Amino acid sequence: MNYESPTQVIPAFTSVPRHVAIVMDGNGRWAKNRFMPRVAGHKRGVEAVRETVKTCGELGIEYLTLFAFSSENWRRPAEEVSVLMQLFLVALDNEVAKLHANGIRFKVIGDLTRFDARLRDKIAASEALTESNTALTLTVAANYGGRWDILQAMNKAQKECVSANREVSEFTEDLLTPYLSMAYAPEPDLFIRTGGEQRLSNFLIWQLAYTEFYFTPELWPDFGRSSLIRAVDSYGKRERRFGRTSDQLAASLGISSDCTSDAA
Ligand code: IPE
Ligand code: IPE
Ligand code: MG
Repeated sequence: MNYESPTQVIPAFTSVPRHVAIVMDGNGRWAKNRFMPRVAGHKRGVEAVRETVKTCGELGIEYLTLFAFSSENWRRPAEEVSVLMQLFLVALDNEVAKLHANGIRFKVIGDLTRFDARLRDKIAASEALTESNTALTLTVAANYGGRWDILQAMNKAQKECVSANREVSEFTEDLLTPYLSMAYAPEPDLFIRTGGEQRLSNFLIWQLAYTEFYFTPELWPDFGRSSLIRAVDSYGKRERRFGRTSDQLAASLGISSDCTSDAA
């Protein structure tokens, strides 16, 4: 397991984030600006995903997690929901072989019980095919909600304790976190949201406790290689103190405190 909690241990980190999590927002507005149906924005959004995956590979980012459909997105018009599901199916058909050829491990997190069997089977097959790949782990969050994630982890942990006849008087991080849906990954170092809104919209609420945030007004279909590089550059200049002072951070990096913002 790659997971380590920043509230338990001060994590080691590098100037390039290991894990980038993105709320890909603004597809609808991108299309509306062009007098096109919202769906056209979602289609272009898939192209932006392709470019982002490629750039992550170039930059040496190890984990990329993309919010594709939230547990609240079912509230959208039925037609838009159905097109989004269709696009997901088509993307699985068209892209997974390429991901595999590029050594990318593919994963999906979220409550998949609400998806139809065909989609669930394709997801399972894609995950199985790419399971042993090591170049980049690409996770798509589909019917995902941060609160759902914490609750499902608690329910699983509790069930397992009951079946092991183990009495638990209180929940701890150690007990809970192995059951979170991203237990296979370190927590995100960098969170990006396109589209101008500055909110989480119920994305990885547990895992973003110490993540650096980057908001951009760019709409997701316009988010390209240089946009990602800008976000990563911004991350490289942050001082990740994890509760400590700047001086303590500098000392831990073995440098003078004047340089921390460049080195962190
Ligand atoms: C994000 O773009 C994609 C999904 C939520 C599936 P939106 O569809 O939310 O685009 P805007 O926010 O309406 O522009
Ligand atoms: C968040 O975007 C979810 C995804 C990008 C999949 P939304 O567009 O659904 O978020 P809200 O509704 O504006 O908060
Ligand atoms: Mg939106």
